[in-house]
Amino acid sequence: MTISNIEDLRRQARRKLPRMFFDYIDGGAFSERTLASNTEDFDEWTLEQRVLVDLSKRDLSSDILGARYSMPAMLAPVGFAGSFWPNGEVQAARAATQADIPMCLSTFSINSIEEVGAVMPRGLAMQLYVFKDRELATEIVQRAWQVGVTTLFLTADTNVSSVRERDTRNGFRTASSLKLGTVLDLLSRPAWCLRMGLNGRLTLGNVKGKAGVPRSLMAQAAYLSGNVDPGMNWADLAWLREQWPGKLVVKGVLSVEDASRALDGGADGVCVSNHGGRQLDGARSSISVLPDIARFVAGRAEVLLDSGIRRGSHIVKAIGLGADAVLLGRAYAYGLGAAGRKGVSQAIELLRTETELTLALMGMRSIDELRANRDAVRHRSHHAGQAGAVAGALIDTLPRKFTPSKSERDTCHADKGATL
Ligand SMILES: Cc1cc2nc3c(=O)[nH]c(=O)nc-3n(C[C@H](O)[C@H](O)[C@H](O)COP(=O)(O)O)c2cc1C
Repeated sequence: MTISNIEDLRRQARRKLPRMFFDYIDGGAFSERTLASNTEDFDEWTLEQRVLVDLSKRDLSSDILGARYSMPAMLAPVGFAGSFWPNGEVQAARAATQADIPMCLSTFSINSIEEVGAVMPRGLAMQLYVFKDRELATEIVQRAWQVGVTTLFLTADTNVSSVRERDTRNGFRTASSLKLGTVLDLLSRPAWCLRMGLNGRLTLGNVKGKAGVPRSLMAQAAYLSGNVDPGMNWADLAWLREQWPGKLVVKGVLSVEDASRALDGGADGVCVSNHGGRQLDGARSSISVLPDIARFVAGRAEVLLDSGIRRGSHIVKAIGLGADAVLLGRAYAYGLGAAGRKGVSQAIELLRTETELTLALMGMRSIDELRANRDAVRHRSHHAGQAGAVAGALIDTLPRKFTPSKSERDTCHADKGATL
């Protein structure tokens, strides 16, 4: 199958993965409305085409959280990635390193932070869920620092876990042991079974062997999900700020008010995100709230964005609307499920090519040029306004009999010979 875009990788992942894992990646909360609007709302913005610009030299490089990378994108934290492909997080990290972009590792990873750190000499960030057991959270933070992580992402939108109905149906993270339906689902993908079977038992690498943590993956997932602290609040951001000497990003910010509190709490960045439509169904899409948040932050901290990115044009729009960089979630998770490291590389390179082409067709050669010409990304209503003005001007030039005034109409009615 020819892979031309992220949607092709998605289809491939659906063929390769047991339904339980594909649905875990693909699904969203409740009616999946926010999941859909995350991508659809990018269409609310248009790009300005410019021509006859010398495009012989082009460069997508950009700064992300204090270091230069090959493009303004990084891999988002994706839990359980090592169950899509053997050593999934290590494979993703290798692909990111090869592509020269950063990656953020999930707390709920199969490979441990040490295993991933060993293959990622730079650009590794760590995502943190704050557990009721603060010692466990502190230990993960310390381990991250020891392996050279320089940025911590505090996921702030999961104090409670939403319902993803596909997962409920498939028994993913809700059942603590394998049911017959699950076994049949796994057996329906023998190549996956073989690949994963040869790789040994799956466990959550960052917590395996800890006191109180169960042994099987399903039970570990249920245990840890239940251990995320629903009481976490802004005071915990201050607590983390004291502990963490590196850069700190609050992930899951969707309002100016929360961006303001994150900055007050000492965050170096905010990640505009609704968790890929996996938490609050009905929340606004990330791209629709980005302009207000970017305007408010105004360079005082880094603004990242995720949720819905499937095309290079989405990356261009996000940067044009004020993001410093974007995080790729499902886009690379599909690649990982489809073909391991090769699939992640494909996802990154597809998006790189699309981004570069989109910029070039806008007459731009670099991300810096895009930042200097943000008004090349415009909301549809802007054109509607223009069209309205043009239409208004046209109407003014039309013969008046097409827009008769009331008195004219009365005259017409009075004149029996006239027709309107
Ligand atoms: C399968 C999957 C697992 C995820 N696991 C985590 C996680 O462990 N921690 C976290 O902060 N975000 C997690 N996310 C959210 C992503 O980091 C990111 O916010 C989201 O995927 C962006 O939306 P997109 O997939 O539409 O690009 C996960 C997303 C997916 C799809």
